[in-house]
Amino acid sequence: MKIKVSAPGKLMLMGEHAVVYNHPCLVTAVDKRLYVEAEIIDKNEDEIIAPQVKESRFVLEAIAYFKKQFKINQFVKISTNGDFSHRVGLGSSSAVTVATFKALSLVFNISLTDRQIFDLSYHVNIAIQGVGSGFDIAIATFGKTTYFVTGGKIIEPLNIKPLPLVVGYSGIKADTPFYIRKVREAFRSRQTQMDSIFEEIESLVEQGKALLLNSDYEKIGALMTKNHQLLQQLGVSIPKLDLMVEKSIKAGAWGAKLSGAGGGDCIIALVSDDKRIVVENAIKSVGGEIITVDNNAEGVKVEEEV
Ligand code: MEV
Repeated sequence: MKIKVSAPGKLMLMGEHAVVYNHPCLVTAVDKRLYVEAEIIDKNEDEIIAPQVKESRFVLEAIAYFKKQFKINQFVKISTNGDFSHRVGLGSSSAVTVATFKALSLVFNISLTDRQIFDLSYHVNIAIQGVGSGFDIAIATFGKTTYFVTGGKIIEPLNIKPLPLVVGYSGIKADTPFYIRKVREAFRSRQTQMDSIFEEIESLVEQGKALLLNSDYEKIGALMTKNHQLLQQLGVSIPKLDLMVEKSIKAGAWGAKLSGAGGGDCIIALVSDDKRIVVENAIKSVGGEIITVDNNAEGVKVEEEV
């Protein structure tokens, strides 16, 4: 039996960095997906076909951990491909890990809940990267737009519609571990100040969650802009991201912020339909690239069984 499954990429809506320190965040799944095909093979080693070396590390580690956990000694062939380039920071490594566990569970006929897929994938993520809150693993698994607390203490998909977002890529690949370490160093040297920024971010996330449930975009936009200012205070923004955020707001967005670790990758702007083109042009005018993605997408799922 050959099985094809997919898992979505993500965009952080609010709460990045604070979520590493036991605070909540809001994250949404995008409609760009990572696909994994798996089958049991009659060979004496596993075969991985992954276009990105980075992805194959996650696949290999996931296979090893799965076999250990479920005492399996057969071999598999896994091939991956994606709708999105890993350069823009939409979360290809978390999606590939989640999709691999789902595919393995199906080919070996071991039933796993989404929570178990999250736990297995988070273990692999931490084994390889050493750091991370797991928000990206949670969204690849559960999908939708989700309220998440560090390590999966709370994973609460919200029952809402897709958000009217514009996504602008800075052209700079963010070095997530570098920015996580940068914040950690700042946290060690000035904990009280950092704690109070994290508290403020948490308050924005809590308000944001309530407003999302009411689709109150104007107020959510204001919270996003405030979140960006707090990320600036954490020292993770860069001039290109600040400029794209500023231009989006000037062009009429309800609000805008960097999305993710900082240092590059994307900004998100919340916009009304009539402002979308103006905001997109404003982002392009300062060298940003518009990434066309929808959000609130489905979590990990089976695409095909052959
Ligand atoms: C990176 O996209 C978001 C961070 O909060 C890291 C994490 O939560 O794993 C900076």
